[in-house]
Amino acid sequence: MNLKTEVLNQLKTMNLETNILAFEKMFVLSNDVKNGDVCLPCFPLAKELKKSPVQIATDVATEIMGKLTSTGIIEKAEAVNGYLNIFAKREVVANHIANEILTEQAEFGKANTFSGKTVVLDYSSVNLAKYMHIGHLKTTIIGLVMKNICETLGYKTVSINYVGDYGTPFGKMITAFKHWGNEQEVNEKGVDAVQDLYVKFNREAELDDSLNDEARMWFKKIEDGDEEAVKLSNWIVELCRGEVERLCSELGAEFDSWRGESYYNDKMQAVVDELEAKGLTKISEGALVVDLEEYGLGVALIRKSDGTSLYLTRDLAAVEDRYNNYNFDKAIYVTDVAQKLHFKQLFKIVELLGKPYAGKLEHLAYGRYSLPTGKIASRMGKQALLKDLLEAGINKSKEIMAERGTKVTDADAVSKQVAVGAISFEATKYEKVKDTVYDMEASLNFDGETSPYMQYTYARCCSILEKANVNVNLENLDFSTLANTQAYELIKILNKFPSTVVEAYEKQEPCLLIRLLMDVASEFNKFYTNNRIIDNGVVNNTNLAVVNMVKIIFENGFKIVNIPAISKM
Ligand code: ARG
Repeated sequence: MNLKTEVLNQLKTMNLETNILAFEKMFVLSNDVKNGDVCLPCFPLAKELKKSPVQIATDVATEIMGKLTSTGIIEKAEAVNGYLNIFAKREVVANHIANEILTEQAEFGKANTFSGKTVVLDYSSVNLAKYMHIGHLKTTIIGLVMKNICETLGYKTVSINYVGDYGTPFGKMITAFKHWGNEQEVNEKGVDAVQDLYVKFNREAELDDSLNDEARMWFKKIEDGDEEAVKLSNWIVELCRGEVERLCSELGAEFDSWRGESYYNDKMQAVVDELEAKGLTKISEGALVVDLEEYGLGVALIRKSDGTSLYLTRDLAAVEDRYNNYNFDKAIYVTDVAQKLHFKQLFKIVELLGKPYAGKLEHLAYGRYSLPTGKIASRMGKQALLKDLLEAGINKSKEIMAERGTKVTDADAVSKQVAVGAISFEATKYEKVKDTVYDMEASLNFDGETSPYMQYTYARCCSILEKANVNVNLENLDFSTLANTQAYELIKILNKFPSTVVEAYEKQEPCLLIRLLMDVASEFNKFYTNNRIIDNGVVNNTNLAVVNMVKIIFENGFKIVNIPAISKM
């Protein structure tokens, strides 16, 4: 329910002498129930109405009180220090919200705002030559959550993992394989064997620089399409990609396309030709560039002096390909802030080329993760690999659950869901620009502001509903004696879910949803402490309805923020 609209609608019928409706946009939802439900700070009105804010608030409150009817949603109006606080009838509001949530269930929070539109999301996009590590976590999770948000609002989404499957690292891999590798071993040990070779290459190349020349030679061969080089490189790429695919899937991130950088090898000449034909390029120190100085974006490199192409050129080819394939209405690239300039240059060039997708491209830039601290981290060493992180998370949560005397029979599955939840939560709990430290131990705490705490609260709802063993009867809700402010506060927080999804979309801030769900958890736990749901075997239908509403919001919200909903922990 949109409380603000409901209140404004009633105010409209009152024909107030003071035309506060001209300031419709300034009405806000109150943060605290003691200040009512909807509030108008009267300070900005003073000048135009030629009255003090205190006077305005007092006059309007008196006028509203005089015009109240028994039917409307407004209960009373109060003036407090220049604020006009409007209180809605709790019973009406609570009933309305309860009916909405309990009727719509899994649909609550969904909207068709963008139905018929397509958004392409480029996230995770790992460079395959290296193990997936903690640095890849934010792009993978934030991208996934943004995808879920877009879907909730009606978009058709396309997720692309634009893997870095090309470049000198693959020349190095082939060189290492040629010197020290063994096909059978690589096939058996998979990506671990490949990584060992890569590490060995780097160590040996420090002593013998000719290895670097050899690596360059192999890379050149890949570029020239030499059969053996391409075959070896593809083999290595597939091994590494399989591992990345597996890890993403463990985290819940599935992709519609794995079309990576190498796919665009033979499609870059067309980009260069087009840039030249439009007169956008020039030669600078032997390299082909687009001069973007006049936009404060420096000089964008299109082709190096040795003829090799670049990241930017590939992205120009890729975005064209995506537009041709998906005819997107929006494309979001999720990477860390270090790539800000790259995307500004890309978007500018697209605009200068007059592409139909100019203005449809967005860069969601997030702050970096610093190396984790704590016991688990040091055991994993400096690298903080994602697979170790996941494994450590699973083991740790199994341990914690055992300590807490869990009765679940499928401890393996549940602890994995706890670990995935904790990892997702960690990647999205702060504003995206913040640099964060990953602390696995803290993230698995069942009692802090953590994902297990929320999951646990959800499980509590499930167990209450199971124990009550009756269906919530919508006909029979009685909010007339909303016993305490807490229940009302809780219900209003639940009601914020749909608008929070929209806000998280507009600001590209998944943390807003995390915060809302955290509020739900803590308010629910207060409600649970202070209210009887089942008293001596008698179920309070209204309180049970509240539990059911909380459960629905957790389910709908968890689904978006990639926290598994676990009914027993
Ligand atoms: N592979 C790149 C990296 O790890 C990220 C790619 C982001 N996507 C893009 N279209 N440039 O830094």
